[in-house]
Amino acid sequence: MREFSRRRFVVSAAALGASFVACRTLPRPTGGAWKERRDLYPEGVASGDPESDSVLLWTRRPFQDVRREARLLVEVSEDSSFTRVVASTRVPISIESDWTCRALVGGLAPARVYWYRFVDDDGFASRLGRTRTAPSGDDPHTARFAFVSCQNVNQGAQNAYRRMIFEDERAPESERLDFVLHLGDFIYEIVWYPEDRPKGYYDRRLRDVVRYASGEKIRDFHIPTTVDDYRAVYRAYLHDPDLQDARARWPFVSIWDNHEFSWLGWQGLQVFGGETRPAQTRKVAANQAWFEYQPARVKKPGGADVDRFDPPRVADTPVTQFDDSGLGLEPNNLAAVGSLTGYRALRWGRHVDLLITDQHSYRSEDPCTKPEIAALSTPDFPQMWPEEALVILDAGRTYDGGKPPLHLSSVKPAVPNVRRDQPPQTILGAQQKAWFLEHLKSSRATWKIWANSEGTLDGRIDPQNLPSGITKPWHGAGYANFGGGGDYSSAYLERAEIYDLVQRQGITGFATVSGDRHSFWAGLAAKALPPQPFEPVGVAFITGSISAPGIVEALEHSLPKDHPLRALYLATPRGRTPPEPALNLLLCHGVRSCLEYQSSGDLARARRLSNPDLAPHLSFVDMGGHGYAVVRASGDAIECEFVCIPRPLERSERPDGGQLLYRVVHRTPFWGRGQRPKLEQHVVEGNPALSIR
Ligand SMILES: [Fe+2]
Repeated sequence: MREFSRRRFVVSAAALGASFVACRTLPRPTGGAWKERRDLYPEGVASGDPESDSVLLWTRRPFQDVRREARLLVEVSEDSSFTRVVASTRVPISIESDWTCRALVGGLAPARVYWYRFVDDDGFASRLGRTRTAPSGDDPHTARFAFVSCQNVNQGAQNAYRRMIFEDERAPESERLDFVLHLGDFIYEIVWYPEDRPKGYYDRRLRDVVRYASGEKIRDFHIPTTVDDYRAVYRAYLHDPDLQDARARWPFVSIWDNHEFSWLGWQGLQVFGGETRPAQTRKVAANQAWFEYQPARVKKPGGADVDRFDPPRVADTPVTQFDDSGLGLEPNNLAAVGSLTGYRALRWGRHVDLLITDQHSYRSEDPCTKPEIAALSTPDFPQMWPEEALVILDAGRTYDGGKPPLHLSSVKPAVPNVRRDQPPQTILGAQQKAWFLEHLKSSRATWKIWANSEGTLDGRIDPQNLPSGITKPWHGAGYANFGGGGDYSSAYLERAEIYDLVQRQGITGFATVSGDRHSFWAGLAAKALPPQPFEPVGVAFITGSISAPGIVEALEHSLPKDHPLRALYLATPRGRTPPEPALNLLLCHGVRSCLEYQSSGDLARARRLSNPDLAPHLSFVDMGGHGYAVVRASGDAIECEFVCIPRPLERSERPDGGQLLYRVVHRTPFWGRGQRPKLEQHVVEGNPALSIR
């Protein structure tokens, strides 16, 4: 442990916009009288971003009277009965920060569980929180953490957290989770009020969780427009008992995905109905609310001596000029994007360096949201986009040595190449990418884990192998990209740049954990697939959503019953119902396997018709699964366990959060320089039949 330096912690706390709480050398019992009043702290407590000697603590204590400021006592103890209190300090809160409190506690011991609470001047206390510090950098113990994404309190239940808590409470202390990595879509800013869709959303009941005081209605949903609107949706989500209990039990390490700001948002811009509109004021509002509600070591510019956000003044102004990495140079855009820096690294003992990146604040425009190219995907081939067209769009003006075509691929009628004058696509942006690559090169941890809100594994389909006569001829030249863009599976050049660096530098132990896709995926990280050379440089895992609906659920409600290709997505072999997610089989094995499965219902026979070139990188895909994933990283191997629960339409009243559908463990032994990573799979419980390659 580094020697305790009060000055160092005061400086770090100020830089994080947090109050500083120092630990004393000798623990003492709690001094004052107190009474727990959860109703006065309606959003509970939380902790975040632990280091080996410090952690951020959080609560919210709103006052309804005329006061604009107050103080809270923060108490941190080595035991849950507070007989060994190591810190107790009063910290300020104010209406300016919506009564939220961020306190950095410094001088803690490494790899230690601590308990904390907040007490107001009347002796009314928050619920107890439990947290844990990081192990020191040379600690050889196995690191254990869960990773999650995409919780939708408006449309579903957070049973996955109840299951996680239930299992952790029963695990031996040495096998409990160290922290929860939240990869975004912590909130969904798009909210349907129950009356907007009286029949609900798919088979889901719409909950009346939040009403925006300002807000904007678009089609049949509502979006936030002010910081108070964004704050309201965080508060609504934190009233969910399962989410709130999870935040009180483990430290969270969080990064936003898109919905913390805007569905198709990028930089300080929003996109609705194919129209891009300036939204710098909303980006700042989104960042402010995130900062106030997530205890994280993120950076805000200036004002390092205040523990509130201080939003920069911006105006919604069109962004017309972009630099060579796609960054909009308009001053309000730069100020909005710069109002919070989320990318950062977290060290966890000898074995884990977590490199956390932001996929939305710096990215260039997603070409697939442009209306001009919508014709690349047709209802005849649902969710299929010609791969060669996406490669051309991604490369922009650099395609084919600087000779991009005027039109995209062989698609008829011709679709214009809208990116032929533009720089290659980037998701990370220049500055963040430089930071990421440098950190990747210099990391000495066994596992360099890229905590990336968006998936990196390719999802491909082989419509070129459909027997003739089933439907129209496929309009692409070869493979189809499933879903068409938005993440690293169509940011070909940037992904290749990262993977090439890993290969060139001989970096081992490169693993990626992601969310966003509302589905479970496990596979090898490779920049290209056959007929290109297939050269994996790492492993990648994607977790299913906590509760937001996924594509299988969407297809069940939207794919016509008589669609000629229905069997590729939803199988009803020999008329069996309910439909099975053939899409999993499609992405792992191809169209021929799906057609065989539909006609015979024989999975072994279907697998024998697998297209070996389609997905040599994949070992598991479940496009309908919900739940969470657990990583265990040691000196020998990295394991990723998928814990899959039934579709969480309603809250389970069971203490374990309801039944499990399956539990499957993916294991990769550590590989040396020049060796290829390998994935092994072990089904522990249940039967994820169509998901296994
Ligand atoms: Fe999501």
